[in-house]
Order: sequence, then C-alpha cells, then structure tokens
Amino acid sequence: MYFPLSALDFELSTLDFELSTLSFQLSTFNFKLSTFNFFSRTFVLSTFCFSPDNMLPFEIYSPEEELLHPLFKEKKVRVFIKRDDMIHPFISGNKWRKLKYNLIEAESSQKRHLVTFGGAWSNHLLATACAAAKFGFKATAFVRGEDVNSDTLFFCRLFGMDLRFTGREDYRNKEQLFESFYGGDPSACFIDEGGAGEEAVRGCAELAAELKGDYQHLFCAAGTGTTAAGIIKGLSEAGLPALLHVIPVLKGADFLIPEIRKYLKDDDGFAFHNNYHFGGYAKTQPGLLKFISDFSASTGILLDPVYTGKMMFAVYDLIGLNYFTPGSNILAIHTGGLFGLLGMKDRML
Ligand SMILES: Cc1ncc(COP(=O)(O)O)c(C=O)c1O
Repeated sequence: MYFPLSALDFELSTLDFELSTLSFQLSTFNFKLSTFNFFSRTFVLSTFCFSPDNMLPFEIYSPEEELLHPLFKEKKVRVFIKRDDMIHPFISGNKWRKLKYNLIEAESSQKRHLVTFGGAWSNHLLATACAAAKFGFKATAFVRGEDVNSDTLFFCRLFGMDLRFTGREDYRNKEQLFESFYGGDPSACFIDEGGAGEEAVRGCAELAAELKGDYQHLFCAAGTGTTAAGIIKGLSEAGLPALLHVIPVLKGADFLIPEIRKYLKDDDGFAFHNNYHFGGYAKTQPGLLKFISDFSASTGILLDPVYTGKMMFAVYDLIGLNYFTPGSNILAIHTGGLFGLLGMKDRML
C-alpha cells in the first residue's frame, strides 16, 4: 500500500506529541499513586485484606502434561500428570480444592478466624495460612508437639498464622481443644486436620469436570482419603468411566476404605493399593528417594517423599508389572505438597 511519507511524518509527530502528553499524564498519575500509597499504607492493610471483594474464588491453572519414558513405550501405555501443584505456590495441589468450600462456608457465616490443626510439616497448615492471608481471614493453628519447628512453620508465621504448640495427648481431641480456646468466639471457624470433611470432598470432586484427556486410569495419593473420595464422586457425577487408583501413604490403611466409601454411592468403584507405603506415614526408603531424584531430573517436575513420590512410584511399578492393558491412558494427579521435600533434603542426593 502506498503511503505518502510526509503524511506519515505528520502522523508520527502527532503520535509523538500524544505519547509525550500521555507520558506526562502517566507521570502525574504515578505521582498521585505514590502520594496515595504513602498516605494510605495503613488504610490499605486494614481494608484491602478484609474486603469481601477480595474474596473467592481465584482462577486456577492445572494442565495435563504427558510424561515420556522408554517403559511406557515398551508397555504401550501413555502416562499424563495433572499439575495441581501449579494451582498456587503455597495453596497447592489438593489444598485449594479442600479449602475452597470451607472458606466459602466460613465467609458466608461471617466467621473470619480460621482455626485448624496439623503437624510441623503440614501442607494443610501452610495452605491455610496463605489462603487466610490472601482472603483476609485471621488464622490460628494447633501444631502437634510442644517442641517442634520446620521450614513449613516458618512460612506459616510469615503469612501471619498464630501457632499454638500442643502436646500430643491434648492434640488428640481437636474438638475439645477448639471448644476450650475458641468456644466463646463467634468468629472462630473449626477446620479439621488436613481440611477433611464434606466441603473438601465437594471441592475435590470439581477436578473431574476439568479433565481434558480420555483416561481409563487415574492415580491419587491418600492420607485421610478425602481427596480420593472427592475425585471418585466427581468422576461418577460427570459420568466418566475412569477408575481411580488410591495409593495410601500410611501402613495398615484398610480403615480408609470405609472412610472413602461413606461419601460415595454404593456402585461407585475404586482400586486400593496398600503396598506402596514404604514403611508408613512420612517413612521413606532409599529406593523411593532415588526414584524421586530420577523422576525430577528426567521430567523437571518435583515430587514429595510423603505423598506424590509414593503415588508416582506405584504408577511406574504397576506399569512394569503389566497391570494395564496396552493402549491405556493413565493420569497421575500431582497433589502438591512440595515443602515436604525440605524436611528430607539431608537424606537425598
Ligand atoms: C501433597 C498431598 N497429597 C495428598 C494428600 C492426601 O490427601 P487426603 O488427606 O485428602 O487423602 C495430602 C494430605 O492432605 C497432601 O498433603
């Protein structure tokens, strides 16, 4: 297209002029903003954080990525991972799904003080501390053990969570602890250890509707079984035929089967593999730690030794044992929890 140069020159100089006006306006705006910032810091802290406009939900990102490995080629299966660990750096994995309806419920019943429970390395405590800061709640945690510390608790403190270190005997009765400290506080909201309960199941069920690929098998790690129950429920409600394989991370975990079942319809099925606990909750063995290091180095995806490492080990192991028919598509759910790695770093590498 022909464009007379002089006209172009003219247009450019007008544009230049407009740009400099704009930049003048922007700098005035900037000046106003910094003045506003200077005078309103206290205001911002006390109103922005507690504004209901700042409330749920937030947009989540959890892509499904294919993993490549010669074993998968040999056994003619495809393996994918759903990156719930990418939902948020601290409210990661199943944590946002488990907290979401707990927080919506707290918000709608005007309870602005979240009171919850967990161990020194609890991913749930970290997620609750961060979510509380993000959405303007106050947060308190009863931490199991009187003389404990961890990197996780350091971050909880940074997010403004109050920590109450509690002897193991007292810690056993959480309802009583809550009653004796906060029974008279109408703004206090009890959130069970790990966020477990109906609300958490409801949040985890939403994962099924997000699935983009066609999978015959899904895998998920289980502590209380809440996340697994939610996913099975979600699959069933969405009419998806995929089978969830539950990998309990604790020893002697058969008691989880009725715990999971209580949220389900009679004909909802799942597979339960109770031989990948590596000695029990938070226990590891050199083979597991080596698997986690190799996996991280070959995929760029971190796993934690308490939950996702055991779950992913089970996926590889079962493929090696010809458990799946050729042509199967398998999806492992990355439930986050990577801070658990920091507690084991001296034993790895
Ligand atoms: C990283 C991670 N994955 C899986 C789980 C197991 O979740 P659930 O207790 O719902 O079985 C947890 C515990 O909450 C966890 O922190």
